[in-house]
Amino acid sequence: MSRQIKLLSGTQSRPLMEEIGRYIGVPPAQHEISRFADGEIRVQILENLRGEDVFIVQSTQPPADNLMELLLLIDAARRASAWRITAVIPYFGYARQDRKDQPRVPISAKLVANLIERAGVDRVLTVDLHSEQIQGFFDIPVDNLFATPVFKDYFGTLNPEEYMVVSPDVGGTKRAWAVAKKLGNLPLAVIDKRRPAPNQAKVLYLIGEVKNKRLLIVDDIIDTGSTLSEAVSYLLDRGALEVTAAATHGLFSNGAKNRLDQSGLKEIVITNTVPLPEERKPEQTTVLTIAPLLGEALIRIHEERSVSRLFI
Ligand code: R5P
Repeated sequence: MSRQIKLLSGTQSRPLMEEIGRYIGVPPAQHEISRFADGEIRVQILENLRGEDVFIVQSTQPPADNLMELLLLIDAARRASAWRITAVIPYFGYARQDRKDQPRVPISAKLVANLIERAGVDRVLTVDLHSEQIQGFFDIPVDNLFATPVFKDYFGTLNPEEYMVVSPDVGGTKRAWAVAKKLGNLPLAVIDKRRPAPNQAKVLYLIGEVKNKRLLIVDDIIDTGSTLSEAVSYLLDRGALEVTAAATHGLFSNGAKNRLDQSGLKEIVITNTVPLPEERKPEQTTVLTIAPLLGEALIRIHEERSVSRLFI
């Protein structure tokens, strides 16, 4: 029996799901998401999913309704006797609370993983998890793609005499190093950042010499933009010629636009894992699409072929 791909999505990720659909040549399955009078979410799938290979695209950035839509879609697909359900979560929210680093705090990433798994998914496809060990919070297969090939297509190969990659914190060193290697074995500098309070960033030290270099800061998330704006002013003070940023997930919350508009950044390059309304978009932002990468992975999962070729 040949199983068909059925593509569904939550409201926020609908444009990305449609783009993935165009890339793989599969139209969206008919489904509706609406609200009851009190605001509760109502989901209905309007075509047969019995025995089919179902992919549900939804990022889980706030508000929590995004996560709730994903859970309800998974439940609906499971009860409709889908053969396999893959949650395609381009941005996995709540990932930054991934350990008990203070007394009496939740491990939110584990709770969210539990919710998604218990809802009934068979596998998860995601992009640049904040920390790779979140894969282990699930007891089902997780394919964690890296946006590196998308950045490589955009930036090409850069001259290592001229350009340098910077990790804005020690935790991001591995990610920055992977991009540095891909863009032409560029040298790497690392910032030692501390957080005096949530959503505040302070640069303590810099490992590496950035004077007269063109810099590319590589991060997974831009949220308030504090990490980035602090890093940019520190690096320009130390004689960098220019600073560009590349990050997979552009959340741009809480005054990020103002902060980044005034930061002196040459360009901010992000992907479309999270929809970005025009009014929250910093002036110098370029949005690259992640749809072909997700589409390739989706086809490989459907055809039971290796996904790891896309991990480089
Ligand atoms: C932190 O570990 C992450 O990699 C990002 O650097 C951080 O989430 C960015 O947050 P913000 O833009 O609020 O400084």
